Amino acid sequence: MANDAINKLREALKVSPDNIPLKLHLGEMLLDEKEYQQAIDEFNAILKQDPSNEDAKLMLAEAFLLQGNFSATIVIAEEDQFKNNPEALLLLAKAHLRDKSIAEAIDVYKRVLKLDPHFTDPELDSQLRNQGSYNDSDEFDEDEFDEDATFRIVENPGIDFSDVGGMDKVKREIDLKIIQPLKNPEIYKAYGKKTGGGILLYGPPGCGKTHLARATAGQVKAKFINIGINDVLDMWIGNSEKNLHEIFEFARKNKPCVLFFDEIDALGASRSDMKQSSGRHLINQFLSELDGVDGDNEGILVLGATNAPWHLDPAFRRPGRFDRIIFVAPPDDESRETILQLQLKDKPTKDLDYALIAKKTPDYSGADLNAVIDIAIESKLEEAIKSGIPQPLSNKDILDAVKKHRPSTKDWFNSAKNYALYANDSGLYDDILTYLNIKK
Ligand SMILES: Nc1ncnc2c1ncn2[C@@H]1O[C@H](COP(=O)(O)OP(=O)(O)O)[C@@H](O)[C@H]1O
Ligand SMILES: [Mg+2]
Repeated sequence: MANDAINKLREALKVSPDNIPLKLHLGEMLLDEKEYQQAIDEFNAILKQDPSNEDAKLMLAEAFLLQGNFSATIVIAEEDQFKNNPEALLLLAKAHLRDKSIAEAIDVYKRVLKLDPHFTDPELDSQLRNQGSYNDSDEFDEDEFDEDATFRIVENPGIDFSDVGGMDKVKREIDLKIIQPLKNPEIYKAYGKKTGGGILLYGPPGCGKTHLARATAGQVKAKFINIGINDVLDMWIGNSEKNLHEIFEFARKNKPCVLFFDEIDALGASRSDMKQSSGRHLINQFLSELDGVDGDNEGILVLGATNAPWHLDPAFRRPGRFDRIIFVAPPDDESRETILQLQLKDKPTKDLDYALIAKKTPDYSGADLNAVIDIAIESKLEEAIKSGIPQPLSNKDILDAVKKHRPSTKDWFNSAKNYALYANDSGLYDDILTYLNIKK
């Protein structure tokens, strides 16, 4: 059938050899019949007659693509006249992809999407995008790790350990494991003690993991580089790894610094994804950066935080990586007293009984206490506006506010307890059980 039609077209062309639409049609049919070389000959013949014929060029590019001659496709599709032609860009993206130039393919595909944001292509989508939900922001998405992005992630901490209430044990561990090695490398060397490696902080939200990491940077007068793993994750294949590498490179240029990875469990957030190679790649990239394969990590203090350490790949816990895992518990009575004092130090107060308030706020996290104070201040403001006379915060104001804000840590323990009881390999989460007074 098709051959019949092709023969008829050839006959017709004998009668009118200069009929370009007829030739295009013939070429198209030859493409359908997978007669790539014959199709290429037809398109070339058209171009001899009319060198700028767009249709012939695009079909020629497609024929080369189908033939597997990717560089020929690329040469045509990159011509200036096709700069904003979605069809040409699509051929270009596919040629790069099939030629295994993933980064180039992504760049070109992004140009297609800029022209038509709703465009989809099964081949490009399945091979260039990570599966699962990733952030779609362009924050780290540029070829260069742009100045703006770096500006946003590096901070002067502005606080040190004295701004962190309680947590004496955690502070001591951080001191021994990462601060002292930085200050006294020769002493550690003398004892043959290896330095390096990071600390992973875990525990219920709002109990000061981020606060403590920031204070650690302040304690050693280092810069604080605050990275949310969700900001690193990128929908494009290979880009998450690139982002991560650039972050480590940035840290290496900004020593000494505390490199803090928040929400680090997001690396293993969706278990089914991890079985796919794209998730695995990212974990491997992270591990080799931690191991300093691509550069020297001396002077970089690595801290991580997570509410869900059980989702983290065990490979992270090997020596030299996150080889200390520390439970950041909700503050005890004494710590809450200190936290309240810290949080209220610049606010107008009168005869506050900090110990009493601390006693009335069991299970409250530092963030909960912040919220309580906010509530107290708001009602004080209302009063002051009505009466025209500002009054300092009293015990009663704060205790009233306590009643309006429930502690948030209990939910976390409900699920954490199960991991500690049933997925507690080598006693990793014993601290949770101790905190809950559960005997194993
Ligand atoms: N031990 C603490 N000392 C002082 N402030 C604290 C403490 N723990 C928590 N906070 C306060 O609570 C807020 C939330 O803590 P954050 O560090 O963000 O918790 P996490 O990172 O564990 O979720 C902090 O910004 C800080 O103001
Ligand atoms: Mg945090």
